[in-house]
Amino acid sequence: MTNLPFASFYLLLSCLLIILVSTSTSKPALAFSIASLSDYHELELPHNIVGPESIAFDCRGEGPYVGVSDGRILKWEEHLKSWTEFAYTSPNRKKNICDASTDKFKEPICGRPLGLKFNPTTCELYIADAYFGLLKTGPNGGPPHQLAISAGGVPFHFLNALDVDNESGMVYFTDTSLIFQRSVWILSIISADRTGRLMQYDPSTKKVTVLLKGLAFPNGVVLSKDKSFLLLTETGTLKILRVWLRGPKANTVELFAQLVGFPDNIKRNNNGEFWVAINNGGGGGGLIPTLLGDPVGAKFDEEGNVLEVLDGEDSAAALLKSVSEVEEHNGKLWMGSVQNSYVGVGLL
Ligand SMILES: *[C@@H]1O[C@H](CO)[C@@H](O)[C@H](O)[C@H]1NC(C)=O
Repeated sequence: MTNLPFASFYLLLSCLLIILVSTSTSKPALAFSIASLSDYHELELPHNIVGPESIAFDCRGEGPYVGVSDGRILKWEEHLKSWTEFAYTSPNRKKNICDASTDKFKEPICGRPLGLKFNPTTCELYIADAYFGLLKTGPNGGPPHQLAISAGGVPFHFLNALDVDNESGMVYFTDTSLIFQRSVWILSIISADRTGRLMQYDPSTKKVTVLLKGLAFPNGVVLSKDKSFLLLTETGTLKILRVWLRGPKANTVELFAQLVGFPDNIKRNNNGEFWVAINNGGGGGGLIPTLLGDPVGAKFDEEGNVLEVLDGEDSAAALLKSVSEVEEHNGKLWMGSVQNSYVGVGLL
């Protein structure tokens, strides 16, 4: 009699074990879909230039615009099927030294524009340059106008990405490290450097505010559709962080997603979903390593669920390597890279 409860307990336990074992040996169901691109092609950069890290489209939807290895910002002219020079960031940039350069040790002279975003109201282009701070140009490009080179009395050392609030004009941007410049970025990762910052620039007061510091390689930044929060990729910890700007949780930070690959830039589509580029330098070991060859991008909803994954080894996009940015625009996915000599494009 006294053993009966134990017997039924063990019976129940073995049933549970059988259920657990049988579910774990059956094929796992994918909770997300694999993005399949059609008509994949590449917009090759001129003169062997590389590194279109970030992609932007202007007020009329034209572009893409990209910042490249020789310090220029180029615009893709669809009707000409070629790139034209739009702007640059270094106030002392010398064309004879810099044009067509792929030498990272010339970047402190030539500039290295990484983050790009047009303010959709003023049509000005905001630029985060790794060496020359926060800048902007007018709608037709031309010489750079430097807006900020420090925050809280501490100079910027490695600006990386930005986003612009389309109503207030507020700019949110990242400084990846106070110690290491872009040309030696790998040292920041290796040394587990935690000196990165997140800032806000107010165009009406021209003031810069430090929102967060002590970050491990803060990289991409993007506002949510209703601007109640922003997402920040912290490459050093493989995390996407949610920073609340408004509402009951304002000024707090929480984990949005933990990846197993290196998150790079992050962009929002018109539905308010987010594409994060996963940059493993090409060749495997990303988000879900056992299920996919080389995940190079993932689409998240506002709750942090993965909706879609872009596989760099997918046949349509077999040449996708080292993806720094995935941007959805006009029904297409545009893929930038800090290393490649082209922008990848495919129909979603
Ligand atoms: C700003 O963007 C939001 C979507 O993120 C949109 O609903 C709103 O109409 C835009 N406002 C302006 C002034 O463009």
